[in-house]
Amino acid sequence: MSTDGVDTSRRRFLTAATTVVGAVGAVGAAVPFVASMWPSARAQAAGAPVEADISKLEPGAMMTVEWRGKPVWIVHRTQQNIDDLPKNDPFLRDPESEVESQQPPYCKNAYRAIKPEYAVIVGICTHLGCSPTYRPEIAPADLGENWLGGFFCPCHGSRFDLAGRVFQGVPANINLLVPPHMYLSDTRILIGKDEGAA
Ligand code: FES
Repeated sequence: MSTDGVDTSRRRFLTAATTVVGAVGAVGAAVPFVASMWPSARAQAAGAPVEADISKLEPGAMMTVEWRGKPVWIVHRTQQNIDDLPKNDPFLRDPESEVESQQPPYCKNAYRAIKPEYAVIVGICTHLGCSPTYRPEIAPADLGENWLGGFFCPCHGSRFDLAGRVFQGVPANINLLVPPHMYLSDTRILIGKDEGAA
């Protein structure tokens, strides 16, 4: 008798398991169909502005938000970082940000920023699209004694300062991109939209 009981339970379990699998299969089939119904809504969401809360971003730290499927870095530069930026100028390819496609007009300044203490930069190398690493240290052994903090691309060795300006003698030949952005308050940045487009 007890054997029958076990068999019955097992049969019930198998029946239930089959039902669940069937339901999952149905949901799985439904998702692509629903998604394909509103491609314009999805495209709109992919390009929508993104809000970043910088209230907890300490001086010297970096955070990343995603905008249009790309990483956007926000770096809270220290006063030392800000003071050091002009020291890089003689070694940069475009210290004055003359390539206009690489930043909005309101960021064509010494900091490539609206506020000197916050850099907002698309984290994609302008050589072949790798993601550079944040290297805020001063003169680390692998980057040399003249390094004052910046971004280093591990793919082919391109170097950028903490304003995203490219150094001379590396494969990348233009500065990192500064996206359109605006401050909603002292602690909130909207990326993907600016005063001009508002
Ligand atoms: S992709 Fe960054 S150096 Fe080549």
